[in-house]
Amino acid sequence: MRKIMLAALAVLSLGSVATAQNFPSRPITIIVPFSAGGPSDAMARILAERIKATLGETVLVENVTGAGGSVGVGRAVRAAPDGYTISFGHLGTHVANGAIYKLGYDLVTDLEPVALLPSNPMIIVSKKEIPATSLKELLAWLKAQPSPPTAGTAGAGSGSHIAGLYFENVAGVKLQYVPYRGTGPAMNDLVAGQIDLIVDQTSNSIGQVRAGNIRAYAITDSKRVESASDIPTVDEAGLPGFHMTLWSGLWLPKGTPNDIVAKLNAAAIDALNDPAIRKQLENLGLQMPPKDQLSPQALGAWQKAEIAKWWPIIKAANVKVE
Ligand code: MLT
Repeated sequence: MRKIMLAALAVLSLGSVATAQNFPSRPITIIVPFSAGGPSDAMARILAERIKATLGETVLVENVTGAGGSVGVGRAVRAAPDGYTISFGHLGTHVANGAIYKLGYDLVTDLEPVALLPSNPMIIVSKKEIPATSLKELLAWLKAQPSPPTAGTAGAGSGSHIAGLYFENVAGVKLQYVPYRGTGPAMNDLVAGQIDLIVDQTSNSIGQVRAGNIRAYAITDSKRVESASDIPTVDEAGLPGFHMTLWSGLWLPKGTPNDIVAKLNAAAIDALNDPAIRKQLENLGLQMPPKDQLSPQALGAWQKAEIAKWWPIIKAANVKVE
């Protein structure tokens, strides 16, 4: 009996080694929990192309949207733990949503961290019709409105929503949130003057700012963004300390074999070390993760630390979701 058990175990472990060795042997899908054309989608597609080159297998991007990104993350959580379904997410989807929604999954124990990705300083932008050319003038305009100005978000718990809550708190203004399935479609409405502002990811706004279709007031960081050095920081523009940077990451379903996690981690690091990819991402205003923060364990530890930091703040904001 003991011999049979050992033989069975040997076959099993041989099986998983074989699986990792043959991984990938068919297309991989990265689930982006927000609309196509937005900041998460843009970063995922740039990385997917390069990960494909490292792994020699097609890497698809699928947009599964809704509920501040929690629907797309749920899809990845329920996928087979075989490395073929990757969850793309960020501070909103893999931290904030746990303090807002009854998710039906656990952001820490139901997912395997793979790699920390670049982070995005946020940017305060408005439709160009608003009669303000500085952050101080924008704050005065916001406070002078008879009803709360409208702010586009990617849904409750999304990065643009958490940033909006934080902005209200620090600036002492009241906003009326208009939820979209991503800040891609929210940006279309800002350019069209349908909504007043977004506290957005710089990578999503920078193109429209450069084109003069929207107005930028400040970057929510202590240092300017190199590729948009004409935009002041909040410290320079009169809202000192309103610092928020939205970090992103990759996760896999719980139970995915370690060697497959390691293979995807290595492919993600390869992509981030590729000078052409770095240039593309930095041109969007994205900041590379620190070199000592690129292991799966580092992302796991960072996610837990961010949960400890943000949940009390978000719970205190008492966010209501339908
Ligand atoms: C998006 O890609 O639309 C964003 O990541 C949404 C957000 O969190 O604001």
